[in-house]
Formats: sequence, structure tokens, C-alpha cells
Amino acid sequence: MKRLLLAVVIAAACVGMAVAASMEDQIKERIKPVGEVCVAGQECGSGGGAAASAEAAGEPRSGEAVYSSACTACHSTGAAGAPVVGQADAWAPRIEKGQETLIEHAINGFNAMPAMGACGSCSEEEVASAVKYMIENSQ
Ligand code: HEC
Repeated sequence: MKRLLLAVVIAAACVGMAVAASMEDQIKERIKPVGEVCVAGQECGSGGGAAASAEAAGEPRSGEAVYSSACTACHSTGAAGAPVVGQADAWAPRIEKGQETLIEHAINGFNAMPAMGACGSCSEEEVASAVKYMIENSQ
């Protein structure tokens, strides 16, 4: 019985240490020197690349870039009944409504289509470009 108790205590201590180690990582992440943090208007170290710096500089992303990051999950698969980009049949009746209406629906939402495609970092201009990109590639 004593041994079991000892085992439990050791196990608990190990878990505690693991948690402490991961918290330490998180803290290190938070107190990173400013130089390592990507600041708007500056070149970002690695990874982020051109898209991240374009966004930081306030330049709108291309329709294709926005589509690929914010819309493709539903619009390349048909998830939730989304019209699939590239399927002219699915898009013809929508295109008939006119580009302005489709942009309006993308920005404000339309049935299961979430407003702004649920893209928190997209501007209305970027969503409009994405709609144009989708229309151009679905005719
Ligand atoms: C969570 C899934 C989802 C995401 C993400 C999504 N859509 Fe949609 N979208 C839908 C669905 C579902 C419909 C069909 C709604 C209907 O006709 O009832 C739709 C329809 C549309 C339509 C046609 C509207 C109309 O009036 O016929 C446009 C345009 C559109 N989406 C643009 C976008 C753009 C641009 C993005 C990315 C910024 C995006 N969607 C992201 C699900 C999504």
C-alpha cells in the first residue's frame, strides 16, 4: 500500500513538472525580445513571408489569396451546400443575380454563407476581390 502511494506521489510530481515546463515555454514566448516580434511595416523574419508583410503594410490581398485562405474550405468542397468554384452550373444562377448582389451577400452573409466568410482578418475590399475571383473561375 505504501509503495502504491509513493508511486502516485511520484507520478503526480512528474505531471507537475511537465506542466511547469510547458508554462515556462509559454512565458518565454510572451517575453520574447521585441526584435523577434513581427512589427507592422517591417520585414518579418521567416515564415510569414510576402503575404504577412503585405497585410501588415495595409495592402489588400489578391482575390486568389483571400479565396485560398478564407473561402476554399467550403467553396472547393461544397461544405454546407456552398457552390463549388469551377462548377459553372452551380454558379450560373448566382452570377445572374449580379456581381454586386453576390459581393453584398458575401459581406453580410446569406443563409449558411457566413458574413465575410467568417474571416476575421479580411477587409470588405478583400472579400469583394475574392468574390470576383470565384466568379471569374466559375464560368
Ligand atoms: C463555412 C462555409 C463557408 C465559407 C468559409 C465561405 N462560404 Fe460562401 N457560401 C457558403 C454557403 C453554404 C453558400 C450557399 C448559401 C446559399 O445559397 O444558401 C455560400 C454562398 C456564397 C456566395 C453566393 C451567394 C449568393 O447570393 O448566391 C458567394 C459569392 C460566397 N459564398 C462567397 C464567399 C467568399 C468570398 C468567402 C471567403 C471570404 C466565402 N464565401 C466563404 C459557405 C461558405
